[in-house]
Amino acid sequence: MTTLPLAGRVALVTGAGNGIGLAIARVLAERGARVALNDLDLEAAARAAQTLGEAHLSVRADVSSEADVEAMVGEVRDAFGRIDILVNNAGVGDGGVPTLDQSLAVFERTLAIHVNGTFLMSRAVAAGMARQGGGAIINLGSIAGELGIPVRTAYSVAKAGISMMTRVLACEWARFGIRVNAVAPGYVRTRLVEGLITSGRLDARRIAARTPLGRMGQPEEIARVVAFLASQEASYVTGAIVPVDGGYTAFGGPFDASGAFSGYDAAAPAKEGDSGPPRRTGHDPREGDGS
Ligand SMILES: NC(=O)c1ccc[n+]([C@@H]2O[C@H](COP(=O)([O-])OP(=O)(O)OC[C@H]3O[C@@H](n4cnc5c(N)ncnc54)[C@H](O)[C@@H]3O)[C@@H](O)[C@H]2O)c1
Repeated sequence: MTTLPLAGRVALVTGAGNGIGLAIARVLAERGARVALNDLDLEAAARAAQTLGEAHLSVRADVSSEADVEAMVGEVRDAFGRIDILVNNAGVGDGGVPTLDQSLAVFERTLAIHVNGTFLMSRAVAAGMARQGGGAIINLGSIAGELGIPVRTAYSVAKAGISMMTRVLACEWARFGIRVNAVAPGYVRTRLVEGLITSGRLDARRIAARTPLGRMGQPEEIARVVAFLASQEASYVTGAIVPVDGGYTAFGGPFDASGAFSGYDAAAPAKEGDSGPPRRTGHDPREGDGS
């Protein structure tokens, strides 16, 4: 009989009532962990926990509140005895408002949830993890924390802050056996992104065209990388920001990433004796743009 990779481990996932957080909770549970599912919306967390089975727990807390965070971490420790894995996933968009029109209140709230939340949660679990001999913290970054995306100032600054916190804490807490990593997803079709699409602030077709893999991601595709980083398979990985973005941040070409204008037609029938790349169609990327 094979032992599940996360058997005996306890995980706390924030913002697990919906979207990526729920997928992360599910994948961690499938791999043997007992999971505490946090959300600001307790009903959503409770529904989500129920779908995973009786071994799991739902807990309400606003991750930007120090008092909520301390109380929640105590509650999870009382219920499960320990916390081995923390996933800082809770997050919100910033409204996609032009910076000239952005309010200080929204800017501060966005940073409070992402940056303060990641700090408060990580600080609250770290001493216990150190006493246990180690643990794994996985943060949710974003392509927005790595690239400049107009009208997403607060969100991008928050995600860049999370990336740097990941590196700093990885270096500071390595001596305690705590590994700290982040995943940086591209566009993943969840409630957060659906809202941007329906309000006309995001064009799904353009995202696909800008992405080498030619599509948005699925929550499970982020969750599986988080589960890897949480496991012993990643025992020598710390301080890493792992892009899970279909190649979005790797791409720098001055044309459509999906291949439509890349100069090659992968579908073109090969001629007899053809051993090279698929045939040229239009623009040749080798010609560059003069830069
Ligand atoms: N969807 C994407 O394309 C995408 C891309 C990159 C990064 N991310 C990041 O992934 C994470 C999850 O995003 P999602 O798309 O699943 O969003 P979502 O809106 O579907 O889920 C986010 C969850 O967080 C909860 N939440 C919000 N504020 C909270 C708070 N203060 N305390 C506790 N819980 C809170 C919400 O109630 C919700 O259940 C976020 O950190 C987001 O920034 C998402």
